[in-house]
Amino acid sequence: MKILAFESTCDETAAAIVEDGRKILTDQIFSQADLHAVYGGVVPEIASRCHVESISILAQKAIDAAGISRSELDAVAVSYAPGLIGAVLVGVNFAKACALALNLPLIPVHHIRGHIAANYLAYPELEPPFLCLAISGGNTILVDVRGYTDMKIIGATRDDAAGECFDKTARVLGLPYPGGKPIDMLAQGGDDTKYQFPIAHVDGSPYDMSFSGLKTAVINLAHNAEQKGEELDRAGLAASFTKAVSDSLVPRTVAAARALGYGRMVVAGGVAANSRIRTDFQKAAEKEGFQLFIPPLKLCGDNGAMIGAQAYYEYLAGNLAGSDLNAYATMEI
Ligand code: KG4
Repeated sequence: MKILAFESTCDETAAAIVEDGRKILTDQIFSQADLHAVYGGVVPEIASRCHVESISILAQKAIDAAGISRSELDAVAVSYAPGLIGAVLVGVNFAKACALALNLPLIPVHHIRGHIAANYLAYPELEPPFLCLAISGGNTILVDVRGYTDMKIIGATRDDAAGECFDKTARVLGLPYPGGKPIDMLAQGGDDTKYQFPIAHVDGSPYDMSFSGLKTAVINLAHNAEQKGEELDRAGLAASFTKAVSDSLVPRTVAAARALGYGRMVVAGGVAANSRIRTDFQKAAEKEGFQLFIPPLKLCGDNGAMIGAQAYYEYLAGNLAGSDLNAYATMEI
């Protein structure tokens, strides 16, 4: 089954064609990051307008690159929640028009379910159940993936997402948006014991997380240094900050996997590209004797293939949308 899938929930416009949920025929992405970088973050209206300009071009490119005709497509899928509402609306409306024009079923896909499904593209042997940590720019959640379409959140950030915290820290250090990758690079060779940052615990909710205190600690450290005319050890700050994020994420994921009796951990989302977090997960998995699944870098960030992968399983479960499908800024997984 060949699914034409669209993603437009934030600042990437993407169109992909995926076969049977596991095989990428093509994955076309246009990142708007450069357009937003000058503002230090995503400007919702610019994002929406840019999706409008790009999405039909990407759809045609996807069909051309896959080397198939439109009549060979079996369904159209779209990421319909959560995200910047104006941005999501562009993808939803375009996908509806495609489904109508091609007379194909329309499959609505939750964006975070898509991030989790990126792992099905990378690891043919991976099947639920498993525990997944989904870490992106807007979400940080621990999910009990009981089945392809049966998921339960068992822990979540109470405030900022991990990616948001990377982006804010990068801004404090004068690094470009999105800040995750520049922080990752700056942290290479930095002393991760240089600064002590807080790791929050939520009383009574062992799997919940909080990153706002860490963000504030970074901001205060930078301001104090500026006021005193002291020079910051930038690489040390990036490394110490990343260690604090990783120490907040990895032990919790291990504990949750252990508690649920799963011998495997799955990681997903843009922040899963972080080299320190990947290494810490690998070490933890080896120590525990767990299997670890993290997507290759190109499938960590937003892309259309992950939507096409999850869409296949939504289709098998009968989760189809009518032509009245709407977009949603927030939605439980
Ligand atoms: O999954 P994603 O592409 O978009 C959302 O669905 O939110 O995640 C984007 C987030 C941004 O906050 C970005 O700074 C972060 O992922 N990110 C990273 C790295 N690469 C991207 N964070 C840490 N280390 C990285 N190497």
